Amino acid sequence: MPPAGEDSALIIEGGHPLRGVITVGGSKNATLGAMAATLLVPEDCTLENVPDIGDVEHMARVLRSLGAVVEWSGPNTLHISAKELHSSSPPNELVGSLRGSFLVMGGLLGRCGQASCPPPGGDVIGQRPIDVHLSGFAALGADISVEGDRFTAKAERLTGSTIFADYPSVLGTQNMMMAAAKAKGHTTIVNAAAEPEVQGMAAMLNAMGARISGAGTHTVEIEGVEEMHGVRYSIIPDRLEAGTYAIAAVITRGEVEVRGSCPEHLVSLIAKLRQAGAQVEVEGDRLHVRGGGELKAVTIQALPYPGLATDLQALMAVLLTQARGVSYVYERVFDNRLLYIGELRKMGAEVVTTGTTVAIISGPTPLVGARVRAMDVRAGAALILAGLAARGRSEITEIYHVDRGYERIDEKLRSLGAVIERV
Ligand code: EPU
Repeated sequence: MPPAGEDSALIIEGGHPLRGVITVGGSKNATLGAMAATLLVPEDCTLENVPDIGDVEHMARVLRSLGAVVEWSGPNTLHISAKELHSSSPPNELVGSLRGSFLVMGGLLGRCGQASCPPPGGDVIGQRPIDVHLSGFAALGADISVEGDRFTAKAERLTGSTIFADYPSVLGTQNMMMAAAKAKGHTTIVNAAAEPEVQGMAAMLNAMGARISGAGTHTVEIEGVEEMHGVRYSIIPDRLEAGTYAIAAVITRGEVEVRGSCPEHLVSLIAKLRQAGAQVEVEGDRLHVRGGGELKAVTIQALPYPGLATDLQALMAVLLTQARGVSYVYERVFDNRLLYIGELRKMGAEVVTTGTTVAIISGPTPLVGARVRAMDVRAGAALILAGLAARGRSEITEIYHVDRGYERIDEKLRSLGAVIERV
């Protein structure tokens, strides 16, 4: 792990085109789901292709608080044994600062018939209710109660049911799949999230003995099973890390081959990069991305998968500051995910926001180095890209937010020719 102190910052000297080859790691969000899924069985599980990042360490602390043993058994291999769980109730301070930790609810409910958590914390990107999770558990027959600031779900034996999700929530769908995997009978989740991280969890649960079909569509079918078992499972590639390096290549007018990705998870991004004038070629697990020509303004909309990922919205917005014309950015997943724009303006970007979900960007505007603050993992990555494209020196502070989701981002960018230093 890189040093992730709260005072850690990155100093970037902009203006150097990125060139070379970069290999992406395993998906942060798929890893958090996979870690929670290990709670379903007393046997050992081994997760491969796990990124060594802050959020994984945090989730490990959550699992350990329940009695699980979580150890690195290789550079990107995590060994988890949830043989003896002594608690179904992780402490508030752990769940309160990582949204993904609420996934232990589904794992614990499926395994022990009881789970209790406070509302989960996480990035400040808008309202993040948990009604989809709780109504899913209730539809499976769990009693939901609120005691103080904790939600408790309990059931002697969960029973399969048809669940309608009000919103195709990613974590909500994962929580429902874990709870339903060992329920009695058949469950259908209608309006399920289709994100690759949901598909990844379904593949892992099936490898553990579950019977899940339809993941990747908006209707997921789960035939409950009596028994599940341990597994060795490799985490899917991080489409957001791949997207970040692809956009970095274009914004620095460089040429980068992104290896180890899953291009079919990046169809929307590739389409938008091409529409903006970048050259993107796909060959197997490789994306060959080239910037250099004039970029054109485009409209982007952050939507549930297969729409453009909300997690790439800020990164694309930074790119569009370099495009000729007026670009429109619509954030349609979260209601407050444009907070980074204030920081981007400090670097010279011409952006007008209407409300908290629409940004109008005029370009191209030359970005200039400035001292800016990473507000969350993706906003922080977006400002790093702005720093790479800017004239002069930028300082991106509170970089621990970025370290939560990106493994050694400074070293990886440096290997492509970026002039970037951690202080
Ligand atoms: N929503 C509800 N009710 C719910 C749950 C969500 O209305 O019960 C709404 C939210 O208010 C929001 C929308 O649904 O407007 C999307 O939320 P979703 O539940 O899908 O997001 P999430 O599952 O909490 C995961 C990722 C996020 C990613 C989103 C969307 C993890 C740990 N987090 O969050 O990743 O942005 O899906 O794809 O998997 C990140 O990696 O930086 C990150 C924030």
